[in-house]
Amino acid sequence: MQSQDIDRVGEIWLEASLTAHSFVSADFWRSQLETMTREMLPATEGYVHMDADRIDGFVAVDGDFIHCLFVDPEHQRQGVGTTLLSHLKGSRDALRLRVYQQNQDAVVFYESNGFVITAEASCPHTGCAEFEMEWRKQPQGMHPKTRTEGAPNASIDPCDA
Ligand SMILES: CC(C)(COP(=O)(O)OP(=O)(O)OC[C@H]1O[C@@H](n2cnc3c(N)ncnc32)[C@H](O)[C@@H]1OP(=O)(O)O)[C@@H](O)C(=O)NCCC(=O)NCCS
Repeated sequence: MQSQDIDRVGEIWLEASLTAHSFVSADFWRSQLETMTREMLPATEGYVHMDADRIDGFVAVDGDFIHCLFVDPEHQRQGVGTTLLSHLKGSRDALRLRVYQQNQDAVVFYESNGFVITAEASCPHTGCAEFEMEWRKQPQGMHPKTRTEGAPNASIDPCDA
């Protein structure tokens, strides 16, 4: 990943966090940007979604645990998040994540992509209530409700920050 890509991913993360996680102080998210782009991203396996030549979403995963999945607010509800999840599902039998309970839109998104709530937890950084969610590959013959199409001209690229 080029340095300008890291900046773009950080920009998406901050913009989407400020909107989706408005129940946490904006100053907290701004204070985490450096840690996110310089420490968390380089330590995880990442993929970016490209719309033409511009990144409009990314996912960072460690094994089967999704650390973060963020889509540019201007590109949400266009299948980008589903496309990134589908890419991960192609090489895994299970996926896990934690999501803020107050981020109901994301909970609905994950449920529409076959995830189920398995436990409740508390975020160690903010103290906010979270759900633990899990997706498991269905045995052959089962057909989970998923959608795999992406935006026109879209592609998924490895993000090796
Ligand atoms: C949650 C997020 C990753 C979803 O990505 P996306 O590209 O917007 O989602 P998709 O277009 O693939 O949506 C797939 C389905 O999920 C559901 N869904 C997605 N966003 C939704 C919303 N805001 N409200 C209700 N349902 C939603 C819908 O069923 C949707 O299908 P439809 O558009 O045909 O109705 C994205 O909105 C985002 O980045 N949000 C802010 C950051 C965040 O909350 N990340 C997750 C934190 S762990």
